[in-house]
Amino acid sequence: MSLAYPKQKKISLRGAVQINRSSFFVCTDEQGKTFLKTGKDEKLQKSLVKDMIAKNPAIKSLLKQYKIKPSINTKTLKELSSGHMNETCNIAMGVYSILSESLRGGIDRAALKEASMLHDLGKVLIPSKILNKPARLNVKEREIMNIHSTLGYELLKTQNLSSQTLELVKYHHQNLKHSGYPALEDENLNSFIGIQIVSISDKYSALREARVYRRKLSCLEALLVLYKEVREGKILPEVYNALVKYAEMFDR
Ligand SMILES: [Fe+2]
Ligand SMILES: [Fe+2]
Repeated sequence: MSLAYPKQKKISLRGAVQINRSSFFVCTDEQGKTFLKTGKDEKLQKSLVKDMIAKNPAIKSLLKQYKIKPSINTKTLKELSSGHMNETCNIAMGVYSILSESLRGGIDRAALKEASMLHDLGKVLIPSKILNKPARLNVKEREIMNIHSTLGYELLKTQNLSSQTLELVKYHHQNLKHSGYPALEDENLNSFIGIQIVSISDKYSALREARVYRRKLSCLEALLVLYKEVREGKILPEVYNALVKYAEMFDR
């Protein structure tokens, strides 16, 4: 198996974002305009999540259906927003910048940025004993873990975000074979390439971090894991190649 790709001339990453490592939140101003707020105010974050829950009854139903006690885990939110989600956003914007115009044409760059920063927001409602379990999850726990993308979507649904942002959050665990979650059903998607970018960036970021059940993978090891998914038809080769170029420039 080879990870070789043609030698690249200098690539301009103008437009790629490097976001400060601080926590953030989606806020809505008096005119209903949505913006991302950075800061470390956990109380504010907690009250914003409470407000999101209050605005959308579907969230309580979901929690009830999966017998999850409603509690907001701001520690998780803080860790995710300053680490994994921030990193996923940096990678996604890099991959977007490298992709050809013909492939990224239908993607709203602002939506991609917002969604990659917010993709795991739903984990704020997943019990920490499941999130931090130092072993493989059982079937029931896996089911609960897998609703985090739907929970994130439902939390953000009332926040005046674009439909593309919401779609990218909801389907960041979907793939080209449609074998991910949640099920696609008859959805008319705005951007499958956008989903691919958030998804591959999310996976690469996660693989490059240590987890309670495994060590941090090297850049090459992480790319090999994703290469397997390209061969399985889950990841578009062009998106993978853009990630390889990103990794060569920024992650060696
Ligand atoms: Fe996720
Ligand atoms: Fe993630």
